[in-house]
Amino acid sequence: MKSFFIGNLEVKLPIVQGGMGVGVSLSGLASAVANEGGVGVISCAGLGLIHKGHGDFLQNCIWGLQEELRIAREKTKGIIGVNIMVALSNFADMAR
Ligand SMILES: Cc1cc2nc3c(=O)[nH]c(=O)nc-3n(C[C@H](O)[C@H](O)[C@H](O)COP(=O)(O)O)c2cc1C
Repeated sequence: MKSFFIGNLEVKLPIVQGGMGVGVSLSGLASAVANEGGVGVISCAGLGLIHKGHGDFLQNCIWGLQEELRIAREKTKGIIGVNIMVALSNFADMAR
C-alpha cells in the first residue's frame, strides 16, 4: 500500500482509524495505530462520561480531550487526529 500525505506529514501506513466514541478510541488505541504508521483518532463523543470531576459535562469533555492528547503525545510521535461529530451539542467548544 502506498503512503499518502496530509500537508507535509507522510502517512506511511495508509489507514485512518475510525473515531469510536464513549471510551473506545482514546489515547491508547490512537497512539498504537499511530505507532504503526497510520492515523490514530481520538473520538470526542462522551469524553465527559470518562473524565469526570472537572466541572460540568462540557468542562469534563474539554479537560478529557486535553488529557487524551497529552497521553497520546507521550506514547507516540506519530500522527494523531481528533474526531468531533458535527451532531454533538458541544461540537464548537470541542473544536476550539
Ligand atoms: C463502537 C463504535 C463507535 C463509533 N463512534 C463514532 C464516533 O464517535 N464518531 C464517528 O464519527 N464515528 C463513530 N463510529 C463510526 C466509525 O468511526 C466508522 O466510521 C464506522 O465504523 C465505519 O467504518 P468501517 O466501515 O471501517 O467499519 C463508531 C463506530 C463504532 C463501531
